[in-house]
Amino acid sequence: MEVITVVGSGLIGRSWAMVFASGGYTVKIYDNQPGQSAKAITEIRKQLEELEEAHMLRGQLKASQQLNLISSHDDLAQALEGAFFVQECVFEQLEVKQSIFQDLERLVGNNVILSSSTSCLVPSSVFSKVHNKSRCLVSHPVNPPYYVKLVELVPHPETVMAVMDAAYALMTKVGQVPVRLKREIDGFAVNRVQAAIISESWRLVKDDVISVKDIDLVMSEGLGMRYAFIGPMETIHLNAPEGMEDYMKRYGEGITRLLNSFGPTPDFSGEEAKSVISEMLELIPNSQQHLSARKERRDLLLMSLAKLKKDH
Ligand code: NAI
Repeated sequence: MEVITVVGSGLIGRSWAMVFASGGYTVKIYDNQPGQSAKAITEIRKQLEELEEAHMLRGQLKASQQLNLISSHDDLAQALEGAFFVQECVFEQLEVKQSIFQDLERLVGNNVILSSSTSCLVPSSVFSKVHNKSRCLVSHPVNPPYYVKLVELVPHPETVMAVMDAAYALMTKVGQVPVRLKREIDGFAVNRVQAAIISESWRLVKDDVISVKDIDLVMSEGLGMRYAFIGPMETIHLNAPEGMEDYMKRYGEGITRLLNSFGPTPDFSGEEAKSVISEMLELIPNSQQHLSARKERRDLLLMSLAKLKKDH
């Protein structure tokens, strides 16, 4: 019986629990809000049953078998018993994360891997109060992790390679797609690339070059079509008759010219923000009803895309 402890049972904690259980691991969920982790199990049961019905359940086990692997705990020490890997998913607040990792270090053996789901905090901040940082790393998922399988593995400067390798092997075993960062950097890779896309999209809208609706179509009907299967590096390698070097000979100068014409970094506030936001609200009002309907649509589409990717 291999045990993984998930600390924090919100959106991401619940998803990790489902991913680990799909790989046959025993998952113990802890949340410091009494009753919260039990509620998470009720939610997970509902989701597993729906996934089974939609033939989208991951792993070899039935929904009921996966559910049997997951337990809820209001006591941290009990939740950590027997664990070889701990995935932290608490609020994205530095002090909360630092403090939970101090607790975790006190309660587990020296060889237990401590992994954080943080999206915005670098490992040297998150683990600054841990004594043995060699077994710490960030495993940053993308929402929703059940369908979007990428996990960024980010080392603390003191993390040993064996820990990175073990996390990589675990993520692969449970069906995620891990990537390794060779060192920590603000935003990791996902949020840095995303920020570049947001930044130029925002500038094009606020400079009145294109509408909010149309810049989103540029991604969803254009670039995004291939990016679901091949990344920017392979894209350019395939886009010139003789590959990447040829591409750069042909287009490198043009790309540099475009990049040099990019405006300053937006600060996303003031009058300019008001006008971009109001254009968005005309398309999708920010009432819970509208937002939930769009999120549901997004997740259904991602589920279909995940199905398609599984077959290719
Ligand atoms: P959430 O707010 O849905 O859930 C956080 C849970 O942690 C709550 O159930 C809360 O009761 C619990 N909690 C808070 N302090 C705790 C403590 N000291 N001990 C035990 N449990 C505690 O948050 P969400 O969205 O699940 O995010 C969790 C982490 O995952 C954050 O670090 C976030 O940055 C990261 N993440 C979130 C993504 C997202 O799209 N929501 C995507 C990728 C990473």
